[in-house]
Amino acid sequence: MHKLQERSLLREKADGRKATGRYHIETWGCQMNVHDSEKLSGALERDGYVRADGREDADVILLNTCSIREKAAEKMFSELGRFVPYKRRNPELVIGVCGCVAQQEGERIFRRSDVVDFVVGPRATATVTRTLERIRNGDVQARGTVDTEYRNDSIRFPYDEIRREGVGTGKAFVTVIEGCNHRCTYCVVPNTRGREICRPMTSILGEVGSLASQGVMEMEFLGQTVNAYRDEDGNTLADLLPAAAEIEGVRRLRFTTSHPAQMTDRLMDAMASASPTVCPYLHLPVQAGSSEVLKRMRRGYDREGYLRKIEGLRRRMPDMLFGTDVIVGFPGESEEQFEETLSLLNEVAYDTVYSFAYSERPATKALELDGGMPQAEKHERLRRLQEQQKTLQERRNRQWVGRDVEVLVEGRSKRNPERWTGRTPENRVVNFDGEAFPGQLKNVKLLDSSAFCLIG
Ligand code: 5AD
Ligand code: SF4
Repeated sequence: MHKLQERSLLREKADGRKATGRYHIETWGCQMNVHDSEKLSGALERDGYVRADGREDADVILLNTCSIREKAAEKMFSELGRFVPYKRRNPELVIGVCGCVAQQEGERIFRRSDVVDFVVGPRATATVTRTLERIRNGDVQARGTVDTEYRNDSIRFPYDEIRREGVGTGKAFVTVIEGCNHRCTYCVVPNTRGREICRPMTSILGEVGSLASQGVMEMEFLGQTVNAYRDEDGNTLADLLPAAAEIEGVRRLRFTTSHPAQMTDRLMDAMASASPTVCPYLHLPVQAGSSEVLKRMRRGYDREGYLRKIEGLRRRMPDMLFGTDVIVGFPGESEEQFEETLSLLNEVAYDTVYSFAYSERPATKALELDGGMPQAEKHERLRRLQEQQKTLQERRNRQWVGRDVEVLVEGRSKRNPERWTGRTPENRVVNFDGEAFPGQLKNVKLLDSSAFCLIG
């Protein structure tokens, strides 16, 4: 028997129960995927599975994939190649592909890899455990299943009964809306995650209450376009935030990702009224600084309109910090238009920027646009942008040194396990020395900084 398998079995014996099997989940991509994986773990554990130590000792491996950029999908196919030896060693091993690559590639995944047993798209996540059970019970028809149909239970799945990974670290994700009704010309999300579906506000508040009673202090509402939230009774994020902030034990609320076009005055007012429980940090993807490029991206706002939103938020919440997403090298982006993005980053003075070279995605409108750019040129622009942003962040982070901040402790720092890591309400990452425990709200004195974190 493999050493790791032996160890898991010993652990089972210590638990006094026989596990259905050992599972291992690998997750790529956005927070939505991270949270879907949490839900999958919860569902598997409810069915009697225990977490494996790694790929080596798993009976079930789920890959929760991302297709937002080309490399993400390619990475999955190359990873699948590495599973061949595990499959050879353990013929019982079941491998499932979930997430956006599953939705996008469907059948084709079986053609490119022969280790995969089933494929389930993000809109059908709730069916994973059923399919798995059929396969493990020897139902030959279940092998080779592709399920990419929309299932209404995936958004709720399985809200109440799952074991929460957030509990214990003081922080948890809560899905409020899935899918996206926008049609940005570069983006695959509307194809993979489908149209928007909103969860009823009462169900969300129920989950928030249950998390708070388990000691979770920070909750992050999730959705591809979270501020498009509107349930069947007409409740919007502007109703949800103040209602959630009222719940006892809720200390910090965040939400991601917001679309600038849907950042209404009413929502800004609601955020301000529920401050500081609603944290003073907002991720508001701009994508480009040039109105011309924004039009070709079909973002539904121009440079000035975006800047007005930032101004409206800063007027109401002067301490608010911002983060954004940017794409460089979009088809037809001229040098001047790229420089408009650089100038916008300086004008807004973001504290976090996720920047990407444009990548062609299947079945997107941008494929029809002229002006494609050589890879090297896109990467040169990306490098210039990141360099400028790094300098700006270094300068902005230095201003924190000497201050005392409130940190919600997440755990040990990955880079330096001697240190603890956590975040301030402004979403600044703080690494610090001293006594702490995960889930603790701790005051930390800041002594140093870098471009990407504060040190206390
Ligand atoms: N190419 C490059 N970046 C993309 N993004 C989405 N689609 C693409 C694409 N085709 C980026 C956007 C989005 C983030 C999640 O990924 O900036 O906000
Ligand atoms: Fe993609 Fe645009 Fe929808 Fe965001 S808003 S998920 S970028 S289509």
